[in-house]
Amino acid sequence: MMVETSMLGRFHHQRLDFKRCVPAFITSHKTLFMILWIAAFLSVFIWQRNMVVGGILFFGRVAARPIPMMRPVAFNLTDFGGVGDGVTLNTEAFERAVSAISKFGNKGGGQLNVPPGRWLTAPFNLTSHITLFLAQDSVILAIDDEKYWPLMPPLPSYGYGRERPGPRYGSLIHGQNLKDVVITGHNGTINGQGQAWWKKFRQKRLNYTRGPLVQIMWSSDIVITNITLRDSPFWTLHPYDCKNITIKGVTILAPIIDAPNTDGIDPDSCEDMLIEDCYISVGDDAIAIKSGWDQYGIAYGRPSMNIMIRNLVVRSMVSAGISIGSEMSGGVSNITVENLRVWDSRRGVRIKTAPGRGGYVRQITYRNITFENVRVGIVMKTDYNEHPDDGYDPTALPDIRDISFTSIYGHGVRVPVRIHGSEEIPVRNVTFREMSVGLTYKKKHIFQCAFVHGRVIGTIFPSPCENLDRYNEQGQLVKHSMSQNVTDIDYDF
Ligand SMILES: *[C@@H]1O[C@H](CO)[C@@H](O)[C@H](O)[C@H]1NC(C)=O
Ligand SMILES: *[C@@H]1O[C@H](CO)[C@@H](O)[C@H](O)[C@H]1NC(C)=O
Ligand SMILES: *[C@@H]1O[C@H](CO)[C@@H](O)[C@H](O)[C@H]1NC(C)=O
Ligand SMILES: *[C@@H]1O[C@H](CO)[C@@H](O)[C@H](O)[C@H]1NC(C)=O
Ligand SMILES: *[C@@H]1O[C@H](CO)[C@@H](O)[C@H](O)[C@H]1NC(C)=O
Ligand SMILES: *[C@@H]1O[C@H](CO)[C@@H](O)[C@H](O)[C@H]1NC(C)=O
Ligand SMILES: *[C@@H]1O[C@H](CO)[C@@H](O)[C@H](O)[C@H]1NC(C)=O
Ligand SMILES: *[C@@H]1O[C@H](CO)[C@@H](O)[C@H](O)[C@H]1NC(C)=O
Ligand SMILES: *[C@@H]1O[C@H](CO)[C@@H](O)[C@H](O)[C@H]1NC(C)=O
Ligand SMILES: *[C@@H]1O[C@H](CO)[C@@H](O)[C@H](O)[C@H]1NC(C)=O
Repeated sequence: MMVETSMLGRFHHQRLDFKRCVPAFITSHKTLFMILWIAAFLSVFIWQRNMVVGGILFFGRVAARPIPMMRPVAFNLTDFGGVGDGVTLNTEAFERAVSAISKFGNKGGGQLNVPPGRWLTAPFNLTSHITLFLAQDSVILAIDDEKYWPLMPPLPSYGYGRERPGPRYGSLIHGQNLKDVVITGHNGTINGQGQAWWKKFRQKRLNYTRGPLVQIMWSSDIVITNITLRDSPFWTLHPYDCKNITIKGVTILAPIIDAPNTDGIDPDSCEDMLIEDCYISVGDDAIAIKSGWDQYGIAYGRPSMNIMIRNLVVRSMVSAGISIGSEMSGGVSNITVENLRVWDSRRGVRIKTAPGRGGYVRQITYRNITFENVRVGIVMKTDYNEHPDDGYDPTALPDIRDISFTSIYGHGVRVPVRIHGSEEIPVRNVTFREMSVGLTYKKKHIFQCAFVHGRVIGTIFPSPCENLDRYNEQGQLVKHSMSQNVTDIDYDF
């Protein structure tokens, strides 16, 4: 039932014994020659089998990749009656396993290994000090009948389920008020089987907001690495009001069209977060940093801050690579996005907000960003008028400032820049430095601005809008803009 660490000790002893035996066994050159010959034959044999099946076969048995021990105790889902046939419901097996691990909280926690197989389940909750380890070829499959999905109260900073008033469906893998949670593996998969949900959503047959695939709330010290998340019913990975989160080496997939609201990662009122080395291709924003919605978000008042996003490749045909907002009422600050490639997408990086949001977006740094076949590269939109209800305060105006773009590249871009500030919500202190983006068409309206205050340092391509001040490479003012409020925005282009 349980693999104790002492097992590892025993294993080492066996290896030592084996080594001692070897010299005694090889007594003659003849034996040695024979062993080498057999070894050579076997390697060719194994190599050939590898070519055929792509796995490591040894005497006809698959030698599974050994699963590392990351906690003092480890359990196997099968110990709790799990059946990985894609048909049997494993909800109770997961619940029993989590409950067993919850007893080891003060002893360093426990690990739940999910072996290769297709493990169908309804939503279940995690516990603190757990490592959920998805072996290679293991798939946790979400049951797609909403009867099995519990309803939960709306998020306090949204006031509503995001798409329907009242409660909302919980997430497939859920956690709240936890500490020290790891979800990792040898690239096993959590599959939300979202197709049925997307269809019902389009047909308006759902009475409640759809559930995310993984949602961790009010928690800290979260690590999510080396797994694949796919086909979420709604947002894929939603850390809500959490602190100290690392997401690394994660692949997130959903169809690029007709998979509504399948955002990749939604850091929401989160602090101290690192997202790196991920590939995300989904039906909405690859990443959308948020912090609550209008009056509910203002009242909750928890910003998203200190977030580093780097070394990502992302694709979003219907939305954007990296978004901030539109729900940002608790504020968003100190975000760095670097070494990002956005390909075959509608928009590259975007900040969206509206009157009524309140809050702020500031200290945002974009560095070394490449757009490949993207309609609009850099987007800021200040009239994203989607409100929870009529109770929002139209005089709650967000403050958007201190945003810098350095080393922006690309090709096949239609509109490299569209910064649409307004009289109520001007965009302040934007800096461009080193930019060279290849265009689809060389026409007017390629660097679109309205109510933007800021500067360009050195020469950039395409040449900037007249709203921005010009500085030389040495940082000396060359030309002060007299027309920060001039509007040249063209959505038809
Ligand atoms: C889990 O149990 C199954 C069935 O007994 C076994 O095939 C598998 O190797 C075990 N996996 C681990 C990681 O212990
Ligand atoms: C998970 O825990 C939360 C909080 O206790 C609860 O509301 C929710 O129903 C639980 N989900 C499941 C699937 O048990
Ligand atoms: C993990 O699996 C996904 C989906 O099959 C694949 O696209 C990705 O390349 C894999 N990642 C690694 C590191 O093998
Ligand atoms: C939604 O509500 C209607 C009316 O109350 C009900 O007939 C229907 O079964 C509900 N649908 C779902 C998916 O819960
Ligand atoms: C953040 O979480 C990681 C993983 O649990 C942990 O090792 C680290 O100590 C935490 N950092 C802080 C500052 O608490
Ligand atoms: C993730 O996978 C990489 C490559 O296989 C490995 O080097 C790394 O140790 C793994 N990281 C974690 C945290 O599991
Ligand atoms: C800004 O965020 C980074 C993480 O990306 C962090 O290391 C740094 O300390 C933060 N800066 C401030 C002033 O908090
Ligand atoms: C810029 O980002 C790309 C990935 O998009 C990376 O290959 C390259 O090394 C980065 N350049 C620098 C100078 O970090
Ligand atoms: C403008 O923004 C930059 C960061 O992009 C910051 O370093 C600078 O202090 C800001 N300037 C003012 C006047 O606030
Ligand atoms: C530009 O608009 C801002 C408000 O967004 C205003 O404060 C400022 O005076 C305007 N500048 C000019 C030159 O009209």
